[in-house]
Amino acid sequence: MPVLFDRLMKLKEMFNSKFGSIPKFYVRAPGRVNIIGEHIDYCGYSVLPMAVEQDMLIAVEPVETQTLQLANTNPLYPDFSTNANNIQIDKTKPLWHNYFLCGFKGIQEHFGLSNLTGMNCLVDGNIPPSSGLSSSSALVCCAGLVTVTVLGMNLSKVELAEICAKSERYIGTEGGGMDQSISFLAEEGTAKLIEFSPLRATDVKLPSGAVFVIANSCVEMNKAATSHFNIRVMECRLAAKLLAKYKGLQWDKILRLEEVQAKLGVSLEEMLGIVEDALHPSPYSPEEVCRCLGISLQELRTQVLSPNTQNAFCGKTTIKQMLKCDTSFSVLIFKLYQRAKHVYSEAARVLQFKKICEEAPDNTVQLLGDLMNQSHVSCRDMYECSCPELDQLVDICRKFGAQGSRLTGAGWGGCTVSIVPADKLSSFLANVHEAYYQRSDRNLTFEKQSLFATKPGGGALVFLEA
Ligand code: GLA
Repeated sequence: MPVLFDRLMKLKEMFNSKFGSIPKFYVRAPGRVNIIGEHIDYCGYSVLPMAVEQDMLIAVEPVETQTLQLANTNPLYPDFSTNANNIQIDKTKPLWHNYFLCGFKGIQEHFGLSNLTGMNCLVDGNIPPSSGLSSSSALVCCAGLVTVTVLGMNLSKVELAEICAKSERYIGTEGGGMDQSISFLAEEGTAKLIEFSPLRATDVKLPSGAVFVIANSCVEMNKAATSHFNIRVMECRLAAKLLAKYKGLQWDKILRLEEVQAKLGVSLEEMLGIVEDALHPSPYSPEEVCRCLGISLQELRTQVLSPNTQNAFCGKTTIKQMLKCDTSFSVLIFKLYQRAKHVYSEAARVLQFKKICEEAPDNTVQLLGDLMNQSHVSCRDMYECSCPELDQLVDICRKFGAQGSRLTGAGWGGCTVSIVPADKLSSFLANVHEAYYQRSDRNLTFEKQSLFATKPGGGALVFLEA
């Protein structure tokens, strides 16, 4: 890996001029592209991502004091330092160092440690931020692995992924575990089906006749800076409870749409039928949800919603503030039918995608492309997590030869992923570049990374200084 080697050498030099010493070790954790299975991990369903080559790299030197010093090779991200045993994560601003602190704190809490020594860390990331390629989770995972390495503790990749998925929620978003799982469990040359509870990753061999191409819409979306993401998590939770109540299950214990299916022991197709019977397409008001569940608005806020989803109402950080926030609460509407439809149909598409990859019929690329196209339509119309630029980019990609194209990651901006027949790749890249990027109003800060073909990369690693 000559590029990685060069980056490590450069990082070592920069570390030396910053801290006046040589790092003891380096950690890398990759970003990811989700091929199919959007917004279903936090509902309990399997997803199908692969790691990308872009990553977070951290050079580390443990120190004798309790000071944790963080620096970034990108001058846009200011230095930060804190006491290693008094970690505060500010949920109101998703500042870069907070993602490091999430990983650090997750490991600290996992081992119940309160007397940690500090370290000097220099971070170098090349995943375009806020682009749906999971730069933030890569930083959380990298920091988690840095901390375990400094402590000399042993954790499996699965344990690390689970700890990091949980600790990223300190930032205030209720993500599922996809990003952290693939960052640790990825293997070069294969995409993975990631299943949850228990977490496991199975190889999915992608067709050799096609290439996956990532294209950045150049609309930045930081999921921790808006409430879109948490509102969707909340809507899915409410939909799960209403469906459970409708089917006579003990709804107060149910949190995820997958649990409803598991408790009923029915197929995903049957769940889609149950959604038709139990929910209506017009939006639900909080009052109607309360009526359906037989609870008060106060109970809905304090008992049904988690702290992070409560914040979605009005950006207030405490329950006390939340309860004062009546205006935002009463204007909220929940599209429970649409969200549940998306989740159950997307979960089925993931399984179909894996099956097609395994069976590899003659028209594999076309079949996979169809599923990716259906996924985009469902994200756009039922989950409402697209945006005009993503829709336009997906259309352009299809027009110039992609068999399928869809938004990837949380959406509302960020990247698309397209499946392109290998022999059409060069004309595809040239045409999409011309049609989408050669417009002066695009934010092309990461121009070189705006449109590129990608292959399944490897997972997180520690390199010791020789
Ligand atoms: C973000 C979250 C993931 C997942 C995706 C949407 O990346 O961190 O857990 O929910 O959005 O599929």
